[in-house]
Amino acid sequence: MRFFIDTAKVEDIRKANDMGVICGVTTNPSLIAKEGRKFEEVIAEITSIVDGPISGEVKATTVDAEGMINEGRAIASIHPNMVVKIPMTVEGLKACKVLSSEKTAVNMTLIFSANQALLAARAGAAYVSPFLGRLDDINQRGIDLISEIVKIFEKGNLNTQIIAASIRNPIHVTDCALAGADIATVPYSVIETMVKHPLTDAGIAKFQADYRAAFGE
Ligand code: E4P
Repeated sequence: MRFFIDTAKVEDIRKANDMGVICGVTTNPSLIAKEGRKFEEVIAEITSIVDGPISGEVKATTVDAEGMINEGRAIASIHPNMVVKIPMTVEGLKACKVLSSEKTAVNMTLIFSANQALLAARAGAAYVSPFLGRLDDINQRGIDLISEIVKIFEKGNLNTQIIAASIRNPIHVTDCALAGADIATVPYSVIETMVKHPLTDAGIAKFQADYRAAFGE
């Protein structure tokens, strides 16, 4: 399983990229709004940091296929690594079909059922983003959705990649890797938590103490 970072905060993207653990970025309208900067400006900066797929979503207020297609073309023109993120609706599927036929990579987002993922794949989506945390929030097992989609895509020989999204903690990450998700898109705070282990810290402290006792600084 590969990692994308799920944020529009460039400092966090830079930190995760420097660690060498991420190979892409996902943003959404809420994450962009949180930064209080112009969409095109943030996205362009992100493309200069990470050399991999960068998902930029059509405006949250654009709900018709034609509008999504026009915005999608504009997003795709920002950089060759751009992926157009489109919400899972009938209009979204229509836009996905057109943009995918033009060789623009589409990430169908807000996927909450296996059938939605299957439809998105059939409409040509390069990626689907099932949201496991938001399902967990309403007492439905998000990880079961990831497992179902993995099985269905394997059986159907579908090339659409599964981005496990709405990841809230490190256990989600391990579960998604075990379930066979292609990618997990993870907030920076979760990446930081994944790095840490109290025994690693204790081990470093012990090695330092032993080294200093034997050799000084
Ligand atoms: C996916 O691409 C979304 O940006 C994201 O993972 C949503 O996460 P949330 O449910 O924590 O907002």
